[in-house]
Amino acid sequence: MSEHISVMPERAIELLDVRPDGIYVDGTLGRGGHSKLILERLKSGRLYCFDLDEEAIEKSKVFLKDYDNVTFIHDNFMNMKKYIDHADGILLDLGVSSPQFDEADRGFSYRYDAPLDMRMNKEDEFSAYDIVNSYSEEEISRVLWQYGEEKFARRIAAKIVENRPIDTTAQLVEVIRSALPAKALSKKGHPAKQTFQALRIEVNHELDSLRNFLDDFDEILNIDGRLVIITFHSLEDRMVKHCFKNLSTVKDDLRIAKTPDQIEKARYVLLNRGDKASDEEIEINHRAKSAIIRGIRKVYGKDR
Ligand SMILES: C[S@@+](CC[C@H](N)C(=O)[O-])C[C@H]1O[C@@H](n2cnc3c(N)ncnc32)[C@H](O)[C@@H]1O
Repeated sequence: MSEHISVMPERAIELLDVRPDGIYVDGTLGRGGHSKLILERLKSGRLYCFDLDEEAIEKSKVFLKDYDNVTFIHDNFMNMKKYIDHADGILLDLGVSSPQFDEADRGFSYRYDAPLDMRMNKEDEFSAYDIVNSYSEEEISRVLWQYGEEKFARRIAAKIVENRPIDTTAQLVEVIRSALPAKALSKKGHPAKQTFQALRIEVNHELDSLRNFLDDFDEILNIDGRLVIITFHSLEDRMVKHCFKNLSTVKDDLRIAKTPDQIEKARYVLLNRGDKASDEEIEINHRAKSAIIRGIRKVYGKDR
């Protein structure tokens, strides 16, 4: 069994509408949960799976060993067009997987003491250590505010700079605690949660990858092909929402294509308006709480 519980699996598959002979891409393989659902529906088709994390690929090769129509690629999904020139469907389920959080030595979690790392791709040189120990106070504050929406970004950044060098997650948690007022410390939720999220996004250039992918995917997607994206925080979702809105807006009437007449003139149509996981799913999979899934279908080529 996969160690990671896939988010909104049925909805993802429904929106992708997998064709048995199609070419599909899972840009965020993780532990292969969504990939398996796609493979179960493919016959003569093929699935290409990307992950930055070598371990995700190795574990999924075992999990998906019964399928011979799957290709694993250890690279960023933003480089997809280097490997694939057409696809009928692309799925992205952004962020990190539960095993990445749960492996203490990866440094993603404030729950374990480990070196400050947080790299999805262990071949990258840049890690959370570099941000914490070499960014200026202003830069740290910007990262915490922008990617973590951390209200106390400035105070935390000042304490980080004051206490450098900081080598481990436990040291960082202590520094964060020392920066926060008592009121904030007594609130529900871990006081380091937003700082850790922000550092992880910065270490892995998560928003740049998404932006680059959104700029490029149209070159790969076939007519009638679908793109489905699951996001976990507002910055990501905003990017996806705006991109999908722009692509599905009819040039000459500036409205989102809905009627048959508008769809006739559009390049893309929205498959939904952003769905959330059900309460039942959130009950068994807490990660699903902040997830939003959006899909879009290509109805015509670039020149429209
Ligand atoms: C939320 S998990 C995906 C879980 C997967 N859908 C499943 O059902 O098991 C996200 C995965 O995508 C990978 N990832 C995140 N950003 C990536 C990127 N830009 N390129 C390639 N892989 C990425 C992470 O390493 C992680 O393994």
